[in-house]
Amino acid sequence: MGRGTLEAEAGSQGLEIHRIVDRRCGLEAVIALDSPLLGPAVGGCRMWPYASLAEAEAEACALARAMTRKVLLADLPFGGGKAVIRGDPATAKTPALWAAFAAALERLAGRYWTGEDSGTTPADMDAIARRSRFVLGRSSGAGDLGPMTAEGVLVGLKVALRHRFGSEDLQGVRIAVQGLGAVGLPLAERLAAAGAQLFVADLDANRVARAVERTGARPVAPHAVVEAPVDVLAPCALGGVIGPAEVGLLRCALVAGAANNPLATPETARLLHRRGILFAPDYVINAGGVIAATAELDPGGYRPQRVHARLAIIAHRLDSILAEAAARDRPPLEVTEALAAGLRARRLAAATGGRAASRARCPGGPAGASLLGTGQLARDP
Ligand code: NAI
Repeated sequence: MGRGTLEAEAGSQGLEIHRIVDRRCGLEAVIALDSPLLGPAVGGCRMWPYASLAEAEAEACALARAMTRKVLLADLPFGGGKAVIRGDPATAKTPALWAAFAAALERLAGRYWTGEDSGTTPADMDAIARRSRFVLGRSSGAGDLGPMTAEGVLVGLKVALRHRFGSEDLQGVRIAVQGLGAVGLPLAERLAAAGAQLFVADLDANRVARAVERTGARPVAPHAVVEAPVDVLAPCALGGVIGPAEVGLLRCALVAGAANNPLATPETARLLHRRGILFAPDYVINAGGVIAATAELDPGGYRPQRVHARLAIIAHRLDSILAEAAARDRPPLEVTEALAAGLRARRLAAATGGRAASRARCPGGPAGASLLGTGQLARDP
């Protein structure tokens, strides 16, 4: 890359890990690519003041794996990846830092496409895009992914509602939205417009006031929202909000929201199932953002109408997952994990069976760049 240092190594289970350190601009980052044989990796760039680069690396690997499941289930022709920058989003962003990060992306030559995530914004993507081609979520493209993610959550929530209550009609359905940020607020607006009876919570009182004003929702204290007596709980804040201890406190019949990893442990999915509370798996229902971001690579560029049409995959997937979960009396998350593993195995078999697939060009990449790229380190089983 010509600046700083870049180390790459094969992690476990087909992960490829790139560590980027540039002391001149303070960049410390990790880019994790999950199973590069699946195709160019997509996944946002997270910025957070992690205690160490090792902690950032663990997060990047877990998030890259989750992205793979999300893109496979959304039928997108990519693999999963994630970039994690160790730094405070309020103070660490400088033109030099984005230039160094952009150089690392260029060095990967289209094998990883970045985008916005927690701690980064469309304006940051614009800054990176000044020096790298491999950026999604720019303000001239999909921009803020929150509204399209909310749209996808709405699509999935209706399907889950039908499976749980026999109707997709939101009129009068009591829904608690936890977190009123980039996704939670546009989701609340859509639910209110469809006639739902809304309850909203956020740690930020200004966000609550704004949501109440725009939707007529009733505010709930942040600590009480998980226990609100509602039909649906829509977690749209951080992950891990429902653990074994919370399952007994829930007074909803359905959990369906945007938050990544809202269940604290795998056991929580089984406990919810045992209590008869339906859980719409997060990485199926919240795929609207990556569906929107990757639409920037369409021939002819980003078209919102095309993205809206593609959100139908969320309804299709969730419908078949929830039907199978009901038929086999299994937690939906378990069915989803098995489905994603099957899709992954099929895509890998197709990639390794037909070498032609590996010669396909990376979208937007340099002429002759292959999906395998050069210097690939990891091999899928
Ligand atoms: P955001 O940072 O814009 O908003 C999150 C909101 O949750 C903030 O207003 C925050 O104050 C609030 N919050 C945090 N802890 C809370 C608590 N305990 N109780 C109530 N409110 C709390 O985040 P964004 O982008 O809306 O994302 C929300 C979730 O959806 C995250 O888990 C994210 O990973 C996930 N997601 C977001 C996508 C996007 O397009 N932005 C795409 C897919 C998933």
